[in-house]
Amino acid sequence: MNFSSLEYINTLRESGTVLQSSKYLINRCLKNIAFDKAKVIVELGMGNGCITKEILERCDNNTTIISFEVNKKFCSYCQNKFKNNLSLKILNKSAFDFQDILEQNNISEVDYIISSLPISLFDKNDTTKLLTNLKKTLKKEGHFIQYQYSLNHLKLIKNIFPKVTVDFTMLNIPPAFIYNCA
Ligand SMILES: C[S@@+](CC[C@H](N)C(=O)[O-])C[C@H]1O[C@@H](n2cnc3c(N)ncnc32)[C@H](O)[C@@H]1O
Repeated sequence: MNFSSLEYINTLRESGTVLQSSKYLINRCLKNIAFDKAKVIVELGMGNGCITKEILERCDNNTTIISFEVNKKFCSYCQNKFKNNLSLKILNKSAFDFQDILEQNNISEVDYIISSLPISLFDKNDTTKLLTNLKKTLKKEGHFIQYQYSLNHLKLIKNIFPKVTVDFTMLNIPPAFIYNCA
């Protein structure tokens, strides 16, 4: 078993998964993003960087990508893996601190937020506050993308975002729903 699979399993209560996202799930998450127009993309819960890698491949150097990850080992792993990518900032910080961090980086609004946070494991009130704050930070035409292994947060998300579309892929372990929210 490789480092990232072991780390997901060892930190299951924090990671919420035993495996990284499949390429099919990643493609579904990223398919509606206008990478050529995006100035700032925030990624929440980068893990081993499997989504980050695909974001970087689709962006040019004019896009800043800020990735949040609470797990120090994943951060060090990704810092090494992406050491040549100057447009990527990897922060060993919680998504719950994102507003302060963006302020410190003089960023007032973002184009896309791509989240693989295990929101099912968070307290519902905390999730509501987090998503409400994320929505405030999005540009008017911005999108929040979140995947989940069940639909149990769809109602909560629809209460915060006026437009939500739901996609689904069987081709992930476990199969996943993708919320695209604006
Ligand atoms: C389901 S994994 C996703 C990893 C990877 N992006 C993928 O799709 O395979 C969720 C990741 O979120 C991280 N995480 C959990 N809570 C977090 C928080 N509050 N802020 C930032 N990252 C968090 C976990 O450590 C884990 O790496």
